[in-house]
Amino acid sequence: MKQSIPPLLAILARASAWSYTQDFDNTASVHINALHKYQEMIGGGCSGAFGGACQLFGANGLSPENQQKVTQLLFDENMGALSLVRNDIGSSPGTTILPKCPATPAGPFDYVWDGSDDCQLNLTRTALKYNPELFVYADAWSAPGCMKTVGTENDGGFICGVRGTNCTHDWRQAYADYLVQYVKYYKKEGIDISMLGAWNEPDFNPFTYESMLSDGFMAKDFLEVLYPTVKREFPNVDISCCDATGARQERNILYELEKAGGSDFFDIATWHNYQSNPERPFNAGGKRNIMTEWADGSGPWNTTWDYSGQLAEGLQWALYMHNAFVNSDTSGYTHWECAQQDGGDNALVALQGDTYVVSSRLWAFASFFRFARPGSVRVDATSTVENVYVSAYVNKNGTVAIPVINAAHYPYDVTLNLEGVHVKKASAYLTDNAHNVTLVDQFALHGSTFKVTVEPRAVKTFWLE
Ligand SMILES: *[C@@H]1O[C@H](CO)[C@@H](O)[C@H](O)[C@H]1NC(C)=O
Ligand SMILES: *[C@@H]1O[C@H](CO)[C@@H](O)[C@H](O)[C@H]1NC(C)=O
Ligand SMILES: *[C@@H]1O[C@H](CO)[C@@H](O)[C@H](O)[C@H]1NC(C)=O
Ligand SMILES: *[C@@H]1O[C@H](CO)[C@@H](O)[C@H](O)[C@H]1NC(C)=O
Ligand SMILES: *[C@@H]1O[C@H](CO)[C@@H](O)[C@H](O)[C@H]1NC(C)=O
Repeated sequence: MKQSIPPLLAILARASAWSYTQDFDNTASVHINALHKYQEMIGGGCSGAFGGACQLFGANGLSPENQQKVTQLLFDENMGALSLVRNDIGSSPGTTILPKCPATPAGPFDYVWDGSDDCQLNLTRTALKYNPELFVYADAWSAPGCMKTVGTENDGGFICGVRGTNCTHDWRQAYADYLVQYVKYYKKEGIDISMLGAWNEPDFNPFTYESMLSDGFMAKDFLEVLYPTVKREFPNVDISCCDATGARQERNILYELEKAGGSDFFDIATWHNYQSNPERPFNAGGKRNIMTEWADGSGPWNTTWDYSGQLAEGLQWALYMHNAFVNSDTSGYTHWECAQQDGGDNALVALQGDTYVVSSRLWAFASFFRFARPGSVRVDATSTVENVYVSAYVNKNGTVAIPVINAAHYPYDVTLNLEGVHVKKASAYLTDNAHNVTLVDQFALHGSTFKVTVEPRAVKTFWLE
């Protein structure tokens, strides 16, 4: 027979659907070996492409004061702690540096700089103010129309001159020069572009917006022109390949690029997480890789850290990042838009007139990147249990960041064992439904072992000094 439950208890029971007394061991051991090093980190990021930067800089009424606040929230090392911005090298009328495409590659190329770059210059400049170590990724979705088989920046098509194309002219050098011109305009504004990309999702053809196709063989045919052209003028600018729609799609391009003899013509492998996940190290010949775009996109705006386990929740993003960093040696992780009005789950910050709301996804980024700063190196970290995920990063000055993710619905008692680190003090920062990277504990370290409790459905980042 059912017992009647008092109303308050019924509410409590609903609110804590997951609370039960587990009848098995809730202890885990974590071992950190700082002598075993993996990839160097670049950090978390987002983009202001396709008008997002203009929305952030007031197009829908966000005041100058709030423009600063939101950008600081995203990029300040004590807040969202992002350190990568991905800009679109626009090829559409109104945003392109080459409004009039010449009839032949002989020119003339009448480049123009409007000092705004679809507000991306402002975003980059303001982000740099809050994070001087900002990694600026300039990426083209398409070459100017005249340089492609389809004659327009939309509708896919190929760069004229790569294998399989039969255009009247070979436009590869012209496209390479155009990309360098964009880097020069930023240089004139006092901003160093860190990485330059020639494609966006070249494995995928939506036929509606700026797009351009390529496989790995065709990528080789263009990169062999682009690489020396860029390095002659900007030896420190990295060249990316190729922003495929998924990790698997990127692997296929990289495989073909290598078959074609093009492995030396890029510096960093770039991929999106839409169509497949990273599961193992990339076939990038030891070069770094960055996840350069992803968001749910299909969902409504959501600030939730952990409620239903759906894609856009903060805890899920912490797990995606963990998997990319640990399984695929990924150095950076880039959310699609930084801030947007009416953009659903595409952005980290939702704008509404002069107000803004922050998603918990930003706190997932912060739980890693407030502590694992640009230039930190991932080191070996292992956990004895499946539902406690751990990674570890050593900063340039020897401080150590250890984000521990407890995916279970009950707390874990975790013993951490340290090898190869020399630290005296630990601070614990908690991120869960009630905390956003909040300092919850500080203690002295004696010897190489310490014991902690990690809350359920949480990231607890240990910062060791
Ligand atoms: C950048 O935004 C600020 C307000 O935050 C505005 O005053 C300034 O004019 C903008 N600059 C450009 C180049 O758009
Ligand atoms: C290439 O284009 C030329 C001129 O348009 C044409 O005569 C030739 O048949 C084309 N070749 C191929 C392989 O399509
Ligand atoms: C976010 O999603 C959760 C379920 O996934 C839902 O309960 C919550 O109401 C959503 N919040 C918003 C603001 O849409
Ligand atoms: C934490 O962040 C979420 C999402 O940005 C927000 O809704 C919530 O109010 C914040 N909580 C605290 C305790 O600051
Ligand atoms: C070490 O580097 C980290 C990350 O950049 C920084 O937050 C911290 O203040 C530095 N500590 C010391 C003692 O310099």
